[in-house]
Amino acid sequence: MQAKNPKESRTIVTDLVLPSETNPLNNLFGGELLARMDRAASIAARRHSRRIVVTASVNHVAFNKVIPLGSVVTVEAAVSRAFKSSMEIVLDVWIEDRESGKRSKANEAIYTFVAVDETGAPVRVPGIDPETEKEKERFEAALRRKQLSLVLAGKMQPQDATELKAIFD
Ligand SMILES: CC(C)(COP(=O)(O)OP(=O)(O)OC[C@H]1O[C@@H](n2cnc3c(N)ncnc32)[C@H](O)[C@@H]1OP(=O)(O)O)[C@@H](O)C(=O)NCCC(=O)NCCS
Repeated sequence: MQAKNPKESRTIVTDLVLPSETNPLNNLFGGELLARMDRAASIAARRHSRRIVVTASVNHVAFNKVIPLGSVVTVEAAVSRAFKSSMEIVLDVWIEDRESGKRSKANEAIYTFVAVDETGAPVRVPGIDPETEKEKERFEAALRRKQLSLVLAGKMQPQDATELKAIFD
């Protein structure tokens, strides 16, 4: 299978924040943002693999900034690295100032999706061929994050997490 560039999976979803999606402080409810990110990540994973994809884990979410009612929210997602059947998707969330149109980063997250067949069994996906410095950085760090996620999920023994050990040794 031929490796793909992260740009081939790039997915941009823009939507408003409506009253039914806010908390008592009139800011976007965290679960709503998680769902929007999950949808964008799933489209990116599907564009990369051209298979059925399922969310395997949410590895990192940082709710750095509140997103007020009425905001225009843009979620950008792209596959940063693909392994055998799993793909890491990095997400950036932006909000847009109503008057100036200037974008500011509100949140970021990292999700893992797995490509599966019709029976739900994992299937192979194409690799990733990063080009830009940012793509290369994200690609390199993805293995460390995968190992951390697997250790936390009890699916990998800490002593087998070579990338994590390298940080502490
Ligand atoms: C995700 C799922 C397909 C993995 O199946 P599995 O039987 O554990 O298969 P494997 O152990 O072979 O893992 C498949 C891949 O997922 C990766 N993976 C599994 N759990 C992971 C985790 N917590 N973090 C990161 N990667 C994970 C494995 O490392 C493997 O990657 P690789 O093939 O690229 O090396 C399976 O657990 C599943 O279907 N879960 C439910 C998914 C779902 O319904 N999501 C929506 C929630 S409502």
